[in-house]
Amino acid sequence: MAMGDHRKVIAVADPAALANAAAERVIARIAANPGRIAICLTGGSSPKTLYQLLATEPYRGRIPWDRVHWFIGDERFVPAGDPLNNMNMARKAFLDQCAPASNIHPIPTDTAHPDNPDKSAELYEHALKSFYGADELDPARPLFDLVLMGVGPDGHTASLFPDYPALGETRRWVVGVPRAHVEPFVPRVTLTLPALACCREMLFEVAGSEKQAILTRVFATENLPANRARSLGETIWLVDQAALPENFRG
Ligand code: 6PG
Repeated sequence: MAMGDHRKVIAVADPAALANAAAERVIARIAANPGRIAICLTGGSSPKTLYQLLATEPYRGRIPWDRVHWFIGDERFVPAGDPLNNMNMARKAFLDQCAPASNIHPIPTDTAHPDNPDKSAELYEHALKSFYGADELDPARPLFDLVLMGVGPDGHTASLFPDYPALGETRRWVVGVPRAHVEPFVPRVTLTLPALACCREMLFEVAGSEKQAILTRVFATENLPANRARSLGETIWLVDQAALPENFRG
């Protein structure tokens, strides 16, 4: 299914099928790159089953763990070990069992400025630039092979909330967000639209009937953060039946 622009919608039966389809896309992106691979993970509850799957066979054995680097698209400004911490969730679900520690790149929230997400954003931007080997993003050389995304009830994605100045950022790769629109109401750190876009594929995972209302708005191309997040390459929305808007049902 096409959305009338370059985005593609892939509908699957249920959350289990969605996690399997997402795992296959992760494997395909990895297989397409014989060199160093960078994957930007997302937080929230939607990707957890995918992460757990990646730690089990047959997926685990198909991933060249030494060559894959794992980043996170946004972080809640809580300590690294806090259950609300997005990278902590990914670590527990699969990274700590499978990936070399040096290939895991969390957003540092335990900084010398615990009340200042901007400092943490600055540090992560620096880490991304040194991994990338340049200070400017070059569309011909994507920063990430794959960027995973989710969508919130207000249309936010990563920690880019509707009407926040972070949405208009064109220069910075990572910014601090003082207040979240949704729970948990803690400051956030988020990659910006240009940094997220600099990838070969952006993959949204959306499941459950509670997502149907926001997906209806997204697919009607309303001006929402999730609609402004596009890859320079492929942008795919992987959606289960319960979340699919009525007019997209076959
Ligand atoms: C976060 C996220 C956020 C998330 C959406 C969807 O820190 O919460 O990264 O952007 O992806 O809110 O969350 P769910 O998957 O829990 O619905």
